[in-house]
Amino acid sequence: MRVMMWIYALFILLTAEAWGTDTAVRNATFNLGSDANLTCSDKTWNETMYVIWKISLKNSKECRMSFSNDGQSEDLCNDSKSLRNSSKSRPYLHIPNFSNNDVGIYRCESAFKGGIENYEINVAITVRPTISAWLERENNKMVAVCTAERGKPAANISWSHTGNSPPVETLSESHGFFTAESRLDLTEGVDVKNLSCAVSHPYWTEEQILVPNPPKGLPTLWLYIFTGVAFVVLLTVILLFALNKIKWRRCQQSNTPPSKSAPTENVEEVEPYASYVQRVNSIYNSSADLFT
Ligand SMILES: *[C@@H]1O[C@H](CO)[C@@H](O)[C@H](O)[C@H]1NC(C)=O
Ligand SMILES: *[C@@H]1O[C@H](CO)[C@@H](O)[C@H](O)[C@H]1NC(C)=O
Ligand SMILES: *[C@@H]1O[C@H](CO)[C@@H](O)[C@H](O)[C@H]1NC(C)=O
Ligand SMILES: *[C@@H]1O[C@H](CO)[C@@H](O)[C@H](O)[C@H]1NC(C)=O
Ligand SMILES: *[C@@H]1O[C@H](CO)[C@@H](O)[C@H](O)[C@H]1NC(C)=O
Ligand SMILES: *[C@@H]1O[C@H](CO)[C@@H](O)[C@H](O)[C@H]1NC(C)=O
Ligand SMILES: *[C@@H]1O[C@H](CO)[C@@H](O)[C@H](O)[C@H]1NC(C)=O
Ligand SMILES: *[C@@H]1O[C@H](CO)[C@@H](O)[C@H](O)[C@H]1NC(C)=O
Repeated sequence: MRVMMWIYALFILLTAEAWGTDTAVRNATFNLGSDANLTCSDKTWNETMYVIWKISLKNSKECRMSFSNDGQSEDLCNDSKSLRNSSKSRPYLHIPNFSNNDVGIYRCESAFKGGIENYEINVAITVRPTISAWLERENNKMVAVCTAERGKPAANISWSHTGNSPPVETLSESHGFFTAESRLDLTEGVDVKNLSCAVSHPYWTEEQILVPNPPKGLPTLWLYIFTGVAFVVLLTVILLFALNKIKWRRCQQSNTPPSKSAPTENVEEVEPYASYVQRVNSIYNSSADLFT
């Protein structure tokens, strides 16, 4: 009889303990850069005695914030997070400009007149992928490519054409980002005119529709053409300049009569030698005079 009583008492104690510490687990995701609001329980402020948030962030930072009825609130997080009142007078945790640094586990305890509620909220981030679509040549055939780069979580891609959709390849990147890519073979009579791909991702409520651009190689082709044209123009300019210079020189030469300028130059150059010869000649002459 006694043993039964003890077991009963233990059972009561255990269930009571379980009720008291029962933790409800929730998931929440917020977009990068958005303002996030987390509520602990549905109880309004006038029923609540206190709310304590114990935050374990993914970057291993831990801190606590509490919000009490008697005006004793504390904030040990020292960041932009704050505890606020909603329009329905429900206390909530406000996180402005949500970023990777706010990802983690947010545990809260809400005490009200009827008891205590515990919650564990796994807070994740949604990062918008960069989306693009284009046509390209691969082994002498055209393929349409649609990508959603560096998103979180991974995006899904589907094509507008009826028929088998190609598989979506998902690459895992640094910091938990994902890049999804889908390549559609255009050899099987696919109409390129109305072709588009749809990217679905939690960041957007609706699918994003993209029309593949003409081959990606075209810009480089234009670059080659532009460089070629620029080179030809430059060559032409140089050639014209050179031709002009030759013409101008010829003009100058034919305009100035050679009879005047050429001799004066020659006289100046030859004169010293001429005078020297004259002198030698005069010495020779005088000596010759002596001997004769
Ligand atoms: C929360 O997310 C995890 C996976 O991230 C999932 O397994 C779990 O069922 C989710 N919980 C709720 C309550 O949605
Ligand atoms: C969060 O609360 C603020 C007011 O403090 C409000 O401006 C904002 O829109 C709320 N954000 C969401 C996602 O409800
Ligand atoms: C709390 O306030 C709401 C209205 O804001 C009211 O309806 C409710 O009765 C109040 N509860 C208590 C316990 O005062
Ligand atoms: C916040 O600052 C207080 C003192 O001002 C300090 O005790 C506490 O450790 C700090 N918390 C964090 C998470 O840095
Ligand atoms: C929240 O609102 C209630 C009344 O609406 C007020 O009594 C309480 O002081 C407010 N708390 C904070 C932290 O602003
Ligand atoms: C949000 O944070 C990012 C860096 O994390 C910053 O570049 C940006 O200016 C912030 N935006 C606002 C509105 O504060
Ligand atoms: C991606 O989309 C296709 C078709 O809309 C669907 O069958 C598939 O389940 C989706 N995959 C994921 C991971 O959501
Ligand atoms: C392409 O789209 C236009 C209008 O969006 C439509 O009139 C036309 O029938 C479509 N062509 C094909 C082959 O689906």
